[in-house]
Amino acid sequence: MSEMAILGGTPVRTKSFLSPVVVDENEWNYVKQVLDSREFSRFMGSLSGDMAKTLVMPSQEAENLEGQYFSFLGGRMVRKFESDFAKKFDIPYAISVNSATSGLSTALGASGIGPGDEVITTCLSFNATALSILLFNSIPVFVDVSKENFCIVPEEIEKAITPKTKAILVVHLLGYAADMDLIMGIAKRHNLIVIEDCAQSPGTKYKGRNVGTIGDMGVFSFQETKNMMTGEGGMIVTSNPEFAKKARLIRNHGESVPDDTWDEGSLVNLVGMNFRMTELTAALGIAQLDKLDENNRVRSKNRSYLSEQLAGLPGLRTCSFKDEEVPHVFPMIYDGNETGVNRAKILAALRAEGIPVGSGYLRLMYENPIFLRKVAYGDKQCPWSCHLYGRSREYGRGDCLTAERLINDKFIWFYHINRPNTLEDMDDVAKSFKKVFSNLEKLKDAEIETRIGYKW
Ligand SMILES: Cc1ncc(COP(=O)(O)O)c(C=O)c1O
Repeated sequence: MSEMAILGGTPVRTKSFLSPVVVDENEWNYVKQVLDSREFSRFMGSLSGDMAKTLVMPSQEAENLEGQYFSFLGGRMVRKFESDFAKKFDIPYAISVNSATSGLSTALGASGIGPGDEVITTCLSFNATALSILLFNSIPVFVDVSKENFCIVPEEIEKAITPKTKAILVVHLLGYAADMDLIMGIAKRHNLIVIEDCAQSPGTKYKGRNVGTIGDMGVFSFQETKNMMTGEGGMIVTSNPEFAKKARLIRNHGESVPDDTWDEGSLVNLVGMNFRMTELTAALGIAQLDKLDENNRVRSKNRSYLSEQLAGLPGLRTCSFKDEEVPHVFPMIYDGNETGVNRAKILAALRAEGIPVGSGYLRLMYENPIFLRKVAYGDKQCPWSCHLYGRSREYGRGDCLTAERLINDKFIWFYHINRPNTLEDMDDVAKSFKKVFSNLEKLKDAEIETRIGYKW
């Protein structure tokens, strides 16, 4: 049995895992077209042409707009990327934005959510999910997750509904699909909007349907760690022409469009944002969308291989995925009671072997002091103190026990199942886990530094 690297032995792996950014001729070609055209963004902040038609035009039609009519919907690459995305996800409207964070806020704003409204969401996600709710002054309400797929528990949503609830923001975390049948049933009974955060799940299906296309609106991310990536960027999808229209207005300085003929309802949430995507970003997006299926296939293959390799290690359970779900990372559940070794030591030992593993999110979203102390807009606790809200809402540790336990001492995530990492790379991961898990007795007694020292 070889000595663990953390105790002075030789690490299994010394080279880095590869980043998910895979560039080939396609990216170069589309980017070159943008450089040649000298058109870096053709968005105009004010509308020309037939406004009523342009704003509700399905993405595949908008791709072919010429002359003055396209200016409000962006340049050629932006409209092609949206059209390709809409086609791939089989939905009429795809509206690009500069991040999923701005996309989530836009989707909430487009569906009319505002001050005094509560939005129920999961407690376990990247903090952008919760913070996006604050933009239009709504109040996030956090509920617990399932032990099986780490997505929001539908029964907990139902318990959290109040007269102020207006929407459910579902996250399909790590590539798992949340239980959309139950969630849509609850939404229907209580007349709630459903927004799907698909930042980590492009290509995942729920009962044969793409996640993101089941609720009222879906939002995707193209940030550099995601399954398709343009550096930064996001896409909103919807089948609802009115939501599409509002989303297009919100992303593009909507406040410069309305005139005296607009009624008050139409003006809601048009507060002049610029969430537009550039032509260069869209050029990358077009090429990356073509790779999505292959990227997803590699993630699934690496995940199943690692699952087989790591079966039977003491105290460790690898998490299974359905065939129609695309894993974003490789999640595992660790039980330190079974082995007598705490998770921090396991993580440190694996990192010393050259394997970048993490403990999931460092905290739940409600543990952010912004929520614990309710400080967002100004220093008077807006939006929680807004007279339109009129309820008290506290956040505190202990609110969502399943999720707290998962991140406190159970989750182990390995990140690099992405292309171009191969089964050979997964072999190094498996070797390292086997080495560490066959040295548990030594690890139990060892005094080691468990703070993160790994260079990502
Ligand atoms: C679940 C989830 N939602 C939203 C976001 C925000 O995405 P973006 O970085 O594109 O704003 C992320 C990004 O990590 C995420 O993982």
